[in-house]
Amino acid sequence: MCSIIGYYGKDSAAPIIVKGLKRMEYRGYDSVGVATESNNKIELKKGIGKVNEVNSKIQLDSLPGKIGIGHTRWATHGKVTEFNAHPHPSNSGKIAIVHNGIIENFEELKKQLEDEGYNFKSETDSEIIANLLQKHYEKTKNVKETILKTVSEIKGHYAFVAMFENGQLVAAKFHEPLIIGVGKDDFFLSSDVLGFIEFTDDAIYLENGNFVILEKNKFQILDFQGEHVKYGITKVSKEFGDVYKGDYAHFTLKEIHEQYETVLKAGEKTQEAIEKTANYIKHAKNIYITGSGTSYNSALIAKQIFSKYAKIKAEPIISSELQFSPNSIEENSIIIAISQSGESADVLDAVRIGKESNCKVIAIVNLMTSSLAREADVVIGMNCGPEIGVAATKSFTSQLVVLYKIVQKLTDNKVTINFEKFSESVLKILENPTKIKKIAKVLKDISDIYVLGRGINYPIAMEAALKLKELTYIHAEGIPGGELKHGPLALMDSNVFVIIINPNDSTYSDTLTSAREIKARGAKIIGVSDIESDVYDYWIEMPKIDQVLYPISEIIPIQFLSYYAALEKNTDPDYPRNLAKSVTVK
Ligand code: AGP
Repeated sequence: MCSIIGYYGKDSAAPIIVKGLKRMEYRGYDSVGVATESNNKIELKKGIGKVNEVNSKIQLDSLPGKIGIGHTRWATHGKVTEFNAHPHPSNSGKIAIVHNGIIENFEELKKQLEDEGYNFKSETDSEIIANLLQKHYEKTKNVKETILKTVSEIKGHYAFVAMFENGQLVAAKFHEPLIIGVGKDDFFLSSDVLGFIEFTDDAIYLENGNFVILEKNKFQILDFQGEHVKYGITKVSKEFGDVYKGDYAHFTLKEIHEQYETVLKAGEKTQEAIEKTANYIKHAKNIYITGSGTSYNSALIAKQIFSKYAKIKAEPIISSELQFSPNSIEENSIIIAISQSGESADVLDAVRIGKESNCKVIAIVNLMTSSLAREADVVIGMNCGPEIGVAATKSFTSQLVVLYKIVQKLTDNKVTINFEKFSESVLKILENPTKIKKIAKVLKDISDIYVLGRGINYPIAMEAALKLKELTYIHAEGIPGGELKHGPLALMDSNVFVIIINPNDSTYSDTLTSAREIKARGAKIIGVSDIESDVYDYWIEMPKIDQVLYPISEIIPIQFLSYYAALEKNTDPDYPRNLAKSVTVK
């Protein structure tokens, strides 16, 4: 959720750290801070707000020294305040740390440290790491011993980087991402390769329970027992450093527009993995599909298309719910985990539960070097390039294309899909947002939107509601059309807008009837359909698209609508409040 970074090298650390934090800001963006070491002294600046805002106010990048650490925060423990922002210095000021994750036993450790005379300035769980390090370092005067003692005491999921006033940098990883960037004359410690990709594409992915000590052009990697561990250097795809908005006002808009290309690229580089997956599915006892948020909505669609086209039953499971019904996973089945980031803690946890039942793990991820990819038996790449906007857009359509490609293989290509033609239709939708912009203006002062769909259009409605919530902060809910009369109809009045996902398929006439029932109660109707109807107050016309892939295209106008309504409401579409792109805490 937060991003952490450390730099040790020949250049001025602070500007490099600020740049890295800017690129990783998608991970959390409520406050930011940097600390550097210069002349055996730690200097530190931090503030509330986004990287550029804080930097222009207090010039984080002007801190002196060639060694430093930095952080962008997504608050878990304690409000968004300057005191709670990282880095956190230890009481003596001789050690500073940045942390991502949650220290579960922090209250108990804090109490112990307070009894020993330590003071705490923040409400965070993180600050205990700084003081534990100080305590052990004062006793041992040895960095390795200090880390071993500290990690043996803290419980939870964490990655932290600590800087000592003598300029030593140390970082430890336990179920939160931490990558070492190995440059020619410098080293990076970072939550994401984006923190250093501009400087080096050589990366070492630390394993859980490992830590690294950096000093004077060398580093050593050890495990939590103090033994040296073997490691390999991975070449990271430079393409993931391509995080520029170009001529677009926001990443979200750019990413929505990229979809006519990304739907062609999805799964392209991992054809073999798609074939392998189909093979596993054909022979599996049970198939579970898991994910969170948008990726869970993809899992719901997977269930529909596996069943419709391949007559295969699959069970979608919300990742964060699996731990509460672990017996629902039968031994020797397969679990398909969908995750753009490949770092969502809930998804990784679901996979762990699956593995305990001897399930084969198939990962559908965007980042092939992510934790999920490394946990999986088979990895399929969404291949849609970096998605920076916190709201998932192109990754959703890429996930769906991958799932359809699996369906093709499951049916031995009996389901014929023309992806080129589909891409042309997507382009058609993207080329003309004028009408959608007008509708977005009307949504500005609305407090509730419902999105209705039946069959496969219901998960699309759920995804549409998620986009509206995230980008506009308007309360939005996806409803299966038939359920309307079982409750939600009570909510319909003239203050409500209802989006009707109503393609010319078997759900059409039932959904149109629902629309009429809603209209009779005074609510305004936005129809997303390839057929016009007098019941729609606003009609978003969909092009005639081949029925098989049509559902994928339905989300695109809603992504646009959410984006333009966000602009009307003056919210930041790239960085919705309180959210983060990669949810690495549970
Ligand atoms: C989608 O718009 C959200 N930002 C969120 O629901 C996201 O899909 C979810 O957190 C899962 O992320 P993942 O795909 O990276 O695992």
